[in-house]
Amino acid sequence: MRIISFINKKGGVGKTTIVANLAYALKERYDARVLVVDNDEQGNVSQFFEGEGKYSLADVLLERVEIEKVVEHTRYDGIDLVRADFSLADANVELREMDKSGKEWQLKNALDCLAGNYDICLIDNPPQINASMVNSLVASDEVVVVSTTDKFSIYGVQQMLSCIKDAQQLNPHMSYRGTVVNMFAGDGDSLAAVAQLRDETEVLPVMLHKTDGGIRVKTATNRMETIFEYSPRCRFARDMVEFMDYLLGA
Ligand SMILES: Nc1ncnc2c1ncn2[C@@H]1O[C@H](COP(=O)(O)OP(=O)(O)OP(=O)(O)O)[C@@H](O)[C@H]1O
Ligand SMILES: [Mg+2]
Repeated sequence: MRIISFINKKGGVGKTTIVANLAYALKERYDARVLVVDNDEQGNVSQFFEGEGKYSLADVLLERVEIEKVVEHTRYDGIDLVRADFSLADANVELREMDKSGKEWQLKNALDCLAGNYDICLIDNPPQINASMVNSLVASDEVVVVSTTDKFSIYGVQQMLSCIKDAQQLNPHMSYRGTVVNMFAGDGDSLAAVAQLRDETEVLPVMLHKTDGGIRVKTATNRMETIFEYSPRCRFARDMVEFMDYLLGA
């Protein structure tokens, strides 16, 4: 099972949108068995996949229950979920204060138990750096930073890079794949922002374009649909497929 985390401490850059749509594309086009882990107390990706199980990621991180009991099926055959909700905020406080060596490995240890059940695991992360986010980095084989072309998002990328380096001290096996630009508008300002990003870090070659007009990714999400169900031929849907192929090295 290949584990990929999507991060940026800047909120609203599209982490959840990418995880939800990528999960769908992976199962639809590659017939992959996908596990989505919601590592955000906002629980947005859990809401999208209608997670309603008794247990959540907080229980896994605090070793209250085995991860097998937390995993639930979603309405999509081939996509399972470890859901999260506000209890993750308390779990993070407990985890931070816990006097236990190896507490950064709780998620990795749990996911190891599921390794044979899935081809790929996508972890959606919160717009903050906390104990469970460190767990996510340590658990991952690969990390992708998500950024828009906004200045504050680019500041977020810089902070993420040092976070990734710290986590690599714990898990040298984890690799930083690069930063994917989302909501790319293609105008002069956004091209300048991408050039600035390129000076600072590896920017992935696939840009995810901003949707607008009648084919908005927001509308799709509001309808509880992926972009592939709502508007499969729109630019963002095509970009997501290209991005998936790039990530998988296809
Ligand atoms: N390529 C895009 N074009 C237009 N709108 C987008 C695009 N990607 C995401 N959005 C919209 O931007 C908003 C924020 O997206 P999302 O919730 O995925 O961000 P996030 O990084 O997960 O936020 P948070 O950090 O709060 O969890 C949503 O309304 C989403 O529909
Ligand atoms: Mg989110």
